[in-house]
Amino acid sequence: MEQTKSKKGGFTSAIGFILAAAGSAVGLGNLWAFPYKTAENGGAVFVFLYVACVLLIGAVTMICEIFIGRRAQANPITAFKKINKNLGWIGLIAIVVPTIIVCYYSVLGGYTVRFATNSFWGNADNLGDFAGESWQVILFTAIFMALALVVVMAGVKGGIEKASKVLMPALFILLVAVVIFVLCLGEGVKEGLSYYLIPDFSKVSFSTLLAALGQAFYSLSLGMGAMIVYGSYTGKEINIVKSTGMICVFDTMVALLAGLAIFPAVFHFTSKAGIDTSTLDLNGIMLMFETLPKVFESIGYIGNIIEFFFFAMVVIAAVTSVISIIEVASQFVIQKFKISRKIAAGAITLITFAVSIPVSISLGYLLTGKAQMTIFGLDWLSFLDTVTNTIFMPICALLSCIAVGWFIGPKQAINELTADGNKFGKLEGFISVMIKFVVPVLIAVIEVFGVVELLFPNGNFDANGLGIVLVSYLLFGLLIGIYFLFIKERETGTNADELLK
Ligand code: PFF
Repeated sequence: MEQTKSKKGGFTSAIGFILAAAGSAVGLGNLWAFPYKTAENGGAVFVFLYVACVLLIGAVTMICEIFIGRRAQANPITAFKKINKNLGWIGLIAIVVPTIIVCYYSVLGGYTVRFATNSFWGNADNLGDFAGESWQVILFTAIFMALALVVVMAGVKGGIEKASKVLMPALFILLVAVVIFVLCLGEGVKEGLSYYLIPDFSKVSFSTLLAALGQAFYSLSLGMGAMIVYGSYTGKEINIVKSTGMICVFDTMVALLAGLAIFPAVFHFTSKAGIDTSTLDLNGIMLMFETLPKVFESIGYIGNIIEFFFFAMVVIAAVTSVISIIEVASQFVIQKFKISRKIAAGAITLITFAVSIPVSISLGYLLTGKAQMTIFGLDWLSFLDTVTNTIFMPICALLSCIAVGWFIGPKQAINELTADGNKFGKLEGFISVMIKFVVPVLIAVIEVFGVVELLFPNGNFDANGLGIVLVSYLLFGLLIGIYFLFIKERETGTNADELLK
């Protein structure tokens, strides 16, 4: 019966599921955050720590999340309720957090669409002009969201799976092509590779490990409901452990390759133009939308073509990520209110688009220095990013592990997974200890250090940081209250409501 459910409307094949989940995982986190974080945090040492975090901690958490969705064949609230009726609020958090993320990620998505479409005319020095024209940013955000909406509206099988099967291989091919091109540029390539990868132990500290762990969680789309929801659309024919392994390998490979494309390109440009690399902005938004266009365009018209492919790849990565989180809230609305997928996804997109408007304006102000529009001293994008990344996502991932480790129990979980054809062999005991103790403790450490860093950046107390922490935990409490008052005793639906129709 379970099987038919997932066959009817869920993922139809293991590869479809793996590519969709990899589509969620591979995003801006891989293409821009990983490379510059690696360079900032000691090169190869960071890569080593990152891979260890992915394999030991990220993979275990991902197995837990996919498993929670799969065994319930339902949205996150119903899924946690099935584990224990008093845990359904975790599902509510797993639905609200990604929905907040859509509001700012789509603005960046809009930037990527604009930079891709404008590549042939040149993007260098355009960031301020574009960011300052709010209506343009809003228009491109709308285009980006429309792309994602079309896919979500077409359903899991006909939209998400189909799109991922085309887009993910395309992304990979584009990335490999860009890497090969860049590595053949000659001048500056060696310096770029050294900047990216040469191990620099002086930059390594405890916070490096935390950065690697945080990046691993973000990059694998953990703690944002996506894996629970995609997991709910799989049947027993899909091996969770193997799939998780493949998603992790793919995600890590894309992140590593992105750095191989970006830094040699940057150093090639600087050495040709005789510019001191230390004057260039090599992180965050500036790296992607200012430094890279300059780099590509300095190579002449071939550079514009490469730039187009590069940004097309970034658009693909961003769209396939945002699809997965629009799906989270859409799935719940479809199942709870028994309304059509098109209306549910349309409504979620419209609401998140409305919130993205002030986010675009605030970011524009930040980038042009024209005026200020901040919350607790941060532009809206950074504020929402901090609330979700630093406070909510670790909690959400932590609670998923606790639900499996302490409420279902690792033994029971492993038995259920083994019955579905997963094999753990001698690792059973190790994985049990990881799920129950090690992973939750490490995630709790990320959360605590994240909060301390907000409260005492550079060692001094910051009232704005306190504001962010308080608002986040208030929202957290509010969501728990809403669950117990309005949701706990009510029917919250399952996949069958839509898929068996
Ligand atoms: N794993 C994604 C990334 O690395 O960019 C994180 C993510 C962000 C997923 C935003 C989905 C999303 F909409």
